[in-house]
Amino acid sequence: MSAVLAAREVAKIETPKSLLVVDDSKAEREIMLLTLGAAFPAAEVLTAAHPLMAKQMCADRRFDCVLTDYNMPDMDGVALAGELIAATAYLPIILMTSVGDEMLAAKALRSGISDYLPKSRITTESIRRTVERSIQACGQARVIDEQRGELENFAYALAHDFKQPIRQIVTFTQMISDEIQIGEAGEVHNHLTFLGEAARRLGKLVDVMSQYTLLNQPPELADVDLNRVLASVRASIAPYLAERGGEFVAPSQAPTIRGNETLMTQVLQNLVMNGLQYNRSSVPRVEVAARSGAGHWTLEISDNGLGIEAEYLAEIFKPLFRLHAASEYAGSGLGLTLARKAVLAQDGAIWCESPPGRGSVFHVRLPAAQGTRRTPQH
Ligand SMILES: Nc1ncnc2c1ncn2[C@@H]1O[C@H](COP(=O)(O)OP(=O)(O)OP(=O)(O)O)[C@@H](O)[C@H]1O
Ligand SMILES: [Mg+2]
Repeated sequence: MSAVLAAREVAKIETPKSLLVVDDSKAEREIMLLTLGAAFPAAEVLTAAHPLMAKQMCADRRFDCVLTDYNMPDMDGVALAGELIAATAYLPIILMTSVGDEMLAAKALRSGISDYLPKSRITTESIRRTVERSIQACGQARVIDEQRGELENFAYALAHDFKQPIRQIVTFTQMISDEIQIGEAGEVHNHLTFLGEAARRLGKLVDVMSQYTLLNQPPELADVDLNRVLASVRASIAPYLAERGGEFVAPSQAPTIRGNETLMTQVLQNLVMNGLQYNRSSVPRVEVAARSGAGHWTLEISDNGLGIEAEYLAEIFKPLFRLHAASEYAGSGLGLTLARKAVLAQDGAIWCESPPGRGSVFHVRLPAAQGTRRTPQH
């Protein structure tokens, strides 16, 4: 899941649906059932009288939050929390402390529990706030870790790709310098062309890197008229289309979706260019169609190109993944990574199908506009 999407989901979580109370005292469990019932009337609250029972219950299903006592037979609340978190990352756990346990609970915070609440101070309001805050904090921790992991993978992949044009620049600079020194300038012009190509490639990688970084911020969303977006895509691909003698077909009346115009332009431009580039048909053709669904639109971008084997349909969205030789098709393998990230940042989804021998179809699902919806005509 994209980190931006996850961040939106976290913001939406308000009330938990399922809670688990772990306490060996029946009276305490009863009190917690009543208090949590009042704080979250719609939530299902289950209880466990023993830590081992709680472990089994958490293995069987996912709770939105676990509230555990500290002093229990066989295993204390902190040890239980450690085991539960090891089994289920980012599980919100609140330690309920008795008089005298507070110091220990403060220490336990460092070992992974989300929060602690002295039993003497448990009220409907305090428990509601503590549970909601714990769920929010765990959700945010998950988003930050995902973002960090995704960024590390991307940086690693990008660093690898930076090396090739840099090597090219070093090699050709040396060659040009040698050629000038020995007075053989015949190849200099050619080698300068290679230098220019390498510099342009570096420039593109820097652009991609900054676009990717920007996509970590949630974009501004508004109603986007896809007619405008498709017109801009048509204008930008016109020279390539003319050169290849290709066709680009878009709906005469495209829908309005909820998203970001700049991102949508980048996404569609990328998909349309791919459809034309990875294509050996005598007339390369890309067609965009729009289908309406409940509260969303799905755009279908289909081509009569090379197609993609089933085993690679998910791989193509990974950074630097390319199916075709660089010598034949110049591409950096980042277009679809950016497109996917941009679609997820708009609360959408993107996937690809490629029926054997029939080119590729990319599907982009996006929320419908908040204003009136129009029916597309193909
Ligand atoms: N419509 C398509 N038909 C066939 N193969 C495709 C299609 N779109 C993408 N691919 C394959 O997926 C790979 C990844 O595409 P992606 O757009 O991410 O990168 P790219 O086109 O190589 O480079 P760029 O970053 O310039 O877009 C491509 O290299 C190509 O092999
Ligand atoms: Mg591409």
